[in-house]
Amino acid sequence: MKRKRLNILVTAGATREKIDPVRFISNYATGYFGFQIAKEAKKRGHRVIVIAGATTQARPRDIKAIDVQTSAQMKRQIEQKFTWSDCLIMNAAVCDFRPGKTAKKKIKREAQKALHISLQKNPDILKSFSSKKGARMMVGFALESENLEKNARAKLRDKNLDLIVATSIKSGSYPFGQAKISSLLIDKNGLTRMVRQATKARLSRILLDNIEKTMIN
Ligand code: CTP
Repeated sequence: MKRKRLNILVTAGATREKIDPVRFISNYATGYFGFQIAKEAKKRGHRVIVIAGATTQARPRDIKAIDVQTSAQMKRQIEQKFTWSDCLIMNAAVCDFRPGKTAKKKIKREAQKALHISLQKNPDILKSFSSKKGARMMVGFALESENLEKNARAKLRDKNLDLIVATSIKSGSYPFGQAKISSLLIDKNGLTRMVRQATKARLSRILLDNIEKTMIN
């Protein structure tokens, strides 16, 4: 029999990769969407753990949150909670690259004319867990500057996901920290649903409806 209360693991915010003790590379994610999803899941009675990178938003109250900085730390924390989870919602904006070396001391401005930082590729966290997902539901997100549906479908397939929420980034539609966004939801059966100008709270409800339909009903 399917359980009514799910164990839901949500990642939120941006990972940060250190250049030196005071500098890092990262992205503009704020954590707002991930926290909205966590709140909606909790409201519906599910058990929720949030793994949060850097965020600029208030933490949802009464929800267990684990703080991480780097993509490697995020991956380790997911690893620890993966067995517990019925569903991974990978909303965090993970840095795809990290500096090959982190300077132990602050890099001095005077000492250089230009600074060249070579970046190494980070592992695809979602893909690494999807390959051993078992009965879990895996939800991914996609940000695309072009070919939204085509690229999102490719990510859904490549990352072995059950559902992907794809949002376009172009002038006039910049999702970070926005109250309302338009997103295309695609499930593993190829069903699509375009949700226009929705608050992230509304998108979270649509997402949770989909998860409950798949995992419970
Ligand atoms: N993701 C991940 N590990 C990474 C990069 C991304 O787990 N190293 C996850 C994100 O959390 C998101 C999904 O994969 O759920 C897609 O992220 P996105 O940045 O849109 O795509 P990438 O796979 O990084 O590909 P690209 O940047 O080339 O579009």
